[in-house]
Amino acid sequence: MCGIVGYIGNKKATEVLINGLSRLEYRGYDSAGVAVSQGGKIHTKKRKGRLKVLEDLMEKEPLEGTVGIGHTRWATHGEPSDVNSHPHANADHSIVIVHNGIIENYMELKEKLIIKGYRFLSDTDTEVIAHLLDSLYQGDMVKAVREATTYLKGSYALGVLCHSEPDKIIAVRKDSPLVIGVGDNENFIASDIPAILNYTRNVYLLDDKEIAILTKERVIVLDQHGEEAGKQIFKVDWDAADAEKGGYEHFMLKEIHEQPKALRDTLTSRLYDDKKEIVLDKIKLGKEELDKINRIYIVACGTAYHAGLIGKYSIEKYARIPVEADIASEFRYRNPIIDEKTLLILISQSGETADTLAAMRLAKQKGARVMAVTNVVGSSVSREADDVLYTWAGPEIAVASTKAYTTQLACMYMIALHLGMLKGTVNEEELTKIQESLKASPEMVEKVIKKESAIKEFAYDKFNVRDVFFLGRGSDYYASLEGSLKMKEISYIHSEAYPAGELKHGPIALIEEGTVVIALCTQTELLEKMMSNIKEVKARGAYVVALAKESDKAIEKEADKVFYIPDTQDDIAPIPTVVILQILAYYLSVARGCDVDKPRNLAKSVTVE
Ligand code: F6R
Repeated sequence: MCGIVGYIGNKKATEVLINGLSRLEYRGYDSAGVAVSQGGKIHTKKRKGRLKVLEDLMEKEPLEGTVGIGHTRWATHGEPSDVNSHPHANADHSIVIVHNGIIENYMELKEKLIIKGYRFLSDTDTEVIAHLLDSLYQGDMVKAVREATTYLKGSYALGVLCHSEPDKIIAVRKDSPLVIGVGDNENFIASDIPAILNYTRNVYLLDDKEIAILTKERVIVLDQHGEEAGKQIFKVDWDAADAEKGGYEHFMLKEIHEQPKALRDTLTSRLYDDKKEIVLDKIKLGKEELDKINRIYIVACGTAYHAGLIGKYSIEKYARIPVEADIASEFRYRNPIIDEKTLLILISQSGETADTLAAMRLAKQKGARVMAVTNVVGSSVSREADDVLYTWAGPEIAVASTKAYTTQLACMYMIALHLGMLKGTVNEEELTKIQESLKASPEMVEKVIKKESAIKEFAYDKFNVRDVFFLGRGSDYYASLEGSLKMKEISYIHSEAYPAGELKHGPIALIEEGTVVIALCTQTELLEKMMSNIKEVKARGAYVVALAKESDKAIEKEADKVFYIPDTQDDIAPIPTVVILQILAYYLSVARGCDVDKPRNLAKSVTVE
């Protein structure tokens, strides 16, 4: 995710930059760096590790200038290291940049720049921008930046210093946040408002492809055609703590709202309109290796395990390889059958969960190939696995996982399709269909998030409920496990998820007058059966909330309340469905006065057994 800041004024730039970066560390803390114009040169200091490491360095080797840019990194391309840290520069250090985002076509640009003679020092996508600007610069950096935006695909918020134009910072954004702080004889750039709240409450919110030119005295914002954009000042009236959550009351709500972007970041560079394939960057497993595999395990804990269940369903469907999904803490103690024909797929947001790591090490010892799906570049899982696929969700702060889960689902679908393509069990028509649905998933989530106030109203109405039962069939059952976990972990309401067909074999004894049953009914072929299950629990007095596809209006005759997801292919339905359940759990927790972001007894990363 990364955070950027920039300062131009009369103060010592490094003090403002370090202060700003300290407010942005929630956006990543793999490394930090600053660049400051001083004595006719641009000086850069950067270090792997938390901001404190950079601060200690700056104490020993201070920089005095009053113009500078800074960065705190959440590694995506290239592991955390000094050399991969930002700022990045061209060869003679006359153009220095900080970047937040992902440049999707960086490999293509890099190859072209290498042919022109450019040399690269880091593994980052960002370094491409520094050299691209160098190749385009002819005495006017604003022009070079505008031209560069026509080559760059993906997302970026950029801060640029240019040695030949020392009294300026140039900034531009597309699909990554960037604000411009307007002060008195001083101006700022930042990924997020908290970074500059100590200095100003007047900001411009940059729109996509707008370019800001900051001098000490003024800020000019140009639209993408080079005309003055006529921006209005936005006055910030939140306090610093609120601002860190982007104006949301809790990180969990912020992260729920970040899901469309997280999904886009995870999907777009891997699904191409013009290619009948899925490009999974760090997955080296090819057809030859896959042909040797006769057994797949998916191993994970908690929410990640729930994503794994959908992975099992999808891989079996598209690649026709038998898959077992296992809870990591069980897997390692059940003497699983593992050999060199085994593929172990691990899912872990943090990449540091003790049981998941132990499962990986056991499998590797026995000769299995390990593929990891993780959110953290440089995590133990990412370093030790043979193949890695990152969920580009950005740092997840709330203990209850939301955006990590939906991006894990996206990765599971992509792995299933990739394996299916290698095996030849997915045809092009099928691939195109599911790719289209996957590409539409960020928009589906946006639509679902628009129902937030209706879900909130319902949660406030039912906040006193004692037990909740979730029912579903097929993928709906797996999604209901996640809905149930979200509810119990943050609202402390007792909840259980059952495959709806299992109801009659015991759990139905618990249904009584007023029991709340949440019935997931998004799987077209199983809809009739779910309708029957709803009738069964209603006959025993249950209050039924159904989740269904928009066009399945018949459900209204059976259920007491219905929340709809947009019409989509059944396989993808868990993505929007779970977002409704996340919002419901969130508002139940708020209504009950619970500590949403830090639920009792839980930790974000479980690094002990
Ligand atoms: C629940 C939750 C946990 C994690 C689990 C695994 O909201 O977040 O169940 O999913 O502890 O963590 P990772 O994915 O970091 O291995």
